[in-house]
Amino acid sequence: MSEDKSETAWAALMALAARPDAAAIRPLFAADADRFIRFSRQAGDVLLDFSKTALSDAVLKALLALAEARDVAGFRARLFAGAAVNETEDRAALHMALRAAPEDDFRAGAENLMPEVLAVRARMEAFTRALHEGRILTAKGEHFTDVLNIGIGGSDLGPAMVARALWTDKAPLRGHYLANVDGHAWAEMQAKLDPTRTLVLVASKTFTTQETMANAALARDWLRASLGEAGTMQHMAALSTNLAATSAFGISPERVFGFRDWVGGRFSLWSAIGLSLALTLGWDAFARLLAGARVMDQHFRNAPLAENLPVLLALVEVWHVNGLGYPSRAVLPYDERLARLPAHLQQLEMESLGKRVAGSGAVLQRVSGPVVFGEPGTNAQHSFMQLLHQGTTPVPVDFILVARPDHAHADSHRKLLANGLAQAEALLMGKDAAAVTAEMRAAGVTEAEIARLLPHRVFPGDRPSVTMLLPRLDAFTLGQLVALYEHKVAMLGALWGLNPFDQWGVELGKQLAGAILPELSAGAPQKPHDGSTAGLIGKIATFWPEGHG
Ligand code: F6P
Repeated sequence: MSEDKSETAWAALMALAARPDAAAIRPLFAADADRFIRFSRQAGDVLLDFSKTALSDAVLKALLALAEARDVAGFRARLFAGAAVNETEDRAALHMALRAAPEDDFRAGAENLMPEVLAVRARMEAFTRALHEGRILTAKGEHFTDVLNIGIGGSDLGPAMVARALWTDKAPLRGHYLANVDGHAWAEMQAKLDPTRTLVLVASKTFTTQETMANAALARDWLRASLGEAGTMQHMAALSTNLAATSAFGISPERVFGFRDWVGGRFSLWSAIGLSLALTLGWDAFARLLAGARVMDQHFRNAPLAENLPVLLALVEVWHVNGLGYPSRAVLPYDERLARLPAHLQQLEMESLGKRVAGSGAVLQRVSGPVVFGEPGTNAQHSFMQLLHQGTTPVPVDFILVARPDHAHADSHRKLLANGLAQAEALLMGKDAAAVTAEMRAAGVTEAEIARLLPHRVFPGDRPSVTMLLPRLDAFTLGQLVALYEHKVAMLGALWGLNPFDQWGVELGKQLAGAILPELSAGAPQKPHDGSTAGLIGKIATFWPEGHG
């Protein structure tokens, strides 16, 4: 990839962005009756409609030229070939291998990864089926009823999001997710679970994460109190890459489900980290989830850039962030079952793209990852959508709509979809002064009152959104949707020239927490701190005179 070519492509894009009408969307619809058809693409079950953005033909062409200049296809090829695309950790990023079919070929260097991937998958399936069929029982010889996954970040958010999306009361086991080291979270969990019926999964890639190891130790004590030493390990399993640490914790090798360092935490729900999903949703659902993700992997790998959903989604983001200067994005799933998707995407996108230096270490010359936030619709409409409609800076939105529900309340579903479509249309079309005035006159409002309220009641419009439409929500379609976002993130890494697979920014806080911990026990700062931190440590001690030890 030549830097000159990239800079020329960026310059061409920014020249289009500098035009006075660059952010206008409504004229694009007015000029093109086929805009929806021309600016939407289908892959597998996912329809991506990006017509409600200010991408003109010229902008799309410039974005695709940027993608060529940044050699995103080369990055994609190296990703699938198992090159060390995670340069700072000298690792591949091969989460696609985890959802591959036996006939697929994934290698890291000379090593064929498929035998190990399939072997772990077979062990997960055997364990799941044995548990469901009563061949693995509790210490008291009964069926397990509940699974508690203890993990944080990628070892929690992905599985918790999928469980929230797909679990029904017909599922074989109940699932629970404990992430925070907050003792309140553990106390609540403990209160609702029966240790004699609960299987505890300690999910941690590193098996060193402070929060997870603290909660795992609490859970082990809790099991011991009811089951004794011998029974406790019948109720535990570990999902990790760190076999030495799982064994030191006391978990026997046949209860450890491994994966490798080429699986990033936020990309790990397809690995052994997804065992809670297999156990609580059933093996077939987990297999369908993997199969759905593989559909998107194949599309991403093979489709030309101009037809490629992850590439297009990434280019739309570049247009919004770099072209138009929009620093955030909202994710609004109009499906309550996807309530945890925004949280999963927050980690996936912000931990991946929240970087200020390029792979080379040079400071980036352009803005990178936006702030991502979201809530299910329609709830979001009654909280933060005011800002999106009338705030000073546009916030692009991902609307996620599911055409067919899995309940019998057709009217509720129509209302839900009507609201989702209406929000996107309102952001796009706005409401101008003439329309507001006519409406108020028709309602008999006085001219003085109209003049007073008019500025408040105008909607500027031309606020962009993309819509992803799924025919239904199930394991297969959800797998496609999540993999779409994963590949979008990889493409943004290539476009911005940063490493989307490392996360050095989480380290400093971990180190400082380690240093502050003994100071809280001592009730006073022992090392130099900024004045605020030292003051707060001392102040907290006054509320806990018996000491924090
Ligand atoms: O602190 C951030 C992080 O490293 C995430 O990247 C990761 O998903 C999470 O912590 C949990 O890590 P682990 O699975 O090793 O416990």
